[in-house]
Amino acid sequence: MTTVQSNLDLVERARRVMPGGVNSGNRALPWPLAIVEAAGAYFGDAEGMRYLDYHAAFGPLILGHNHPDVNAAVRAVIERLDIIGAGVTDIEVELAEKLCDVIPSAERVLLTNSGSEATYAALRLARAVTGRNKIIKFQGTYHGWHDAVLMNVISAPDKIGRHDPLSLGMLPDTIEQTIILPFNDVEAVSEMIQQRGEEIAAIIVEVIPHNIGCVLPRPEFLTALRELATRHGVLLIFDEVITGFRHALGGYQSICGVTPDLSTFAKAMANGYPIAALAGKAEYMDRFGPGGGVMFAGTYNGHPVGVSAALATLAILQDGAVHQHTFRLAQRATSGIQQIAGELGIPMKVDVREWHLHDPDRAETQPRERCPYRCRCRSDAGNCAARAGQAASDTRVTHLFGENPGTQPMDEMSSVQIRSCLAVSWAGADPGVRSAVGSWAARSRKPTRVNDRASKRRKMSSSSARNSASSPSTLPWPGCSTIP
Ligand SMILES: Cc1ncc(COP(=O)(O)O)c(C=O)c1O
Repeated sequence: MTTVQSNLDLVERARRVMPGGVNSGNRALPWPLAIVEAAGAYFGDAEGMRYLDYHAAFGPLILGHNHPDVNAAVRAVIERLDIIGAGVTDIEVELAEKLCDVIPSAERVLLTNSGSEATYAALRLARAVTGRNKIIKFQGTYHGWHDAVLMNVISAPDKIGRHDPLSLGMLPDTIEQTIILPFNDVEAVSEMIQQRGEEIAAIIVEVIPHNIGCVLPRPEFLTALRELATRHGVLLIFDEVITGFRHALGGYQSICGVTPDLSTFAKAMANGYPIAALAGKAEYMDRFGPGGGVMFAGTYNGHPVGVSAALATLAILQDGAVHQHTFRLAQRATSGIQQIAGELGIPMKVDVREWHLHDPDRAETQPRERCPYRCRCRSDAGNCAARAGQAASDTRVTHLFGENPGTQPMDEMSSVQIRSCLAVSWAGADPGVRSAVGSWAARSRKPTRVNDRASKRRKMSSSSARNSASSPSTLPWPGCSTIP
């Protein structure tokens, strides 16, 4: 048996046998980190260092790592079931019924293992239904790793407005079928659909582009997408892989009141166990059934581990208490960061989109406000936050550049989302803000020393911080130079 000695040992072993030493390009780090345990809000590395996990695995961990009830449900099911290659299991039926119950657009549901598979199937179905090839995707949204959508997420300013593929090896013909438009720009979508509607199978949209730091849709944007799609026979696909179950049990569609034709879900659905879903109107989804002509398959689809974890997670989320709790946490982070920004004299407005699950009437009473910062963010922010009434367990730090938005669209590029996407957006934040948030974080909670090896780890963190100080991917924990 091999004895684990250090993060570095494990990472070096990983690099010898795995390209880059990680199983997702997005997990690469500039310092050695090998995780050996996780529980609740924490994970621990091979040297006994304990970390408060603000990253939350890009979003699934709505209940924290290793939730006992979810794990118990999984344990119970594997005592009696495992993968079956024929028919359907009792728990798949139960989960599909549950999803159809809570998601407004869901008349039929199919399960996949990842969000990418779900968006792939949604686009295939849209092409089959419409007999058209092109799709509309928006600058700043991420829908997975397949060729039709792997482009134009965080693009350099000179790449905005043209194809910006994120990988070599993508089929040029497939890239060509994807039209990139600016998010929240009704006019651009309307013009494109009027000109080329006959060629367009689907509009796919991350309803809140969390992948660039949580940009809220203008209320009229989603309504216009619905109206344009219906009028021109285009299918509207909401990618709720991140928003689903996190903003509300029924996804953001249950909040914004716009019902898509198809929608995709993953992440928080099973608190991190691998499962995803494609949901939609029966008239379209039934094309995957007998005689429909559209292929849907996958050896592991509907695996009992993911299905039982999903049922347990949804049961816990059902009464809304978890959402209220996460929003309260977001508010705490918001006020802490705002306070630090004030102390340091950084012109910054920390903006929380409130979530009023139990106060839906508030939507009607909120006045419209002009954005006081005169940047290009949502000018009707007051209305937006309230109308959404709900609008989310989002915390965004916006207006990082104060009165000087610079060259990038303010509401697309310069926000830091506190919570699961913090690390993702961190690299793009203004250095002053990085330092402010870092020192607030250090004051709020330092990494906990759990054994003697922690002090060694701490030294390693600060030296790696110095070494990577200029690296754009430097993250706040550990290695942030503001943490002593
Ligand atoms: C909005 C959105 N859609 C799709 C995906 C792809 O999901 P997966 O990584 O499970 O393939 C992601 C992943 O981060 C996502 O954020």
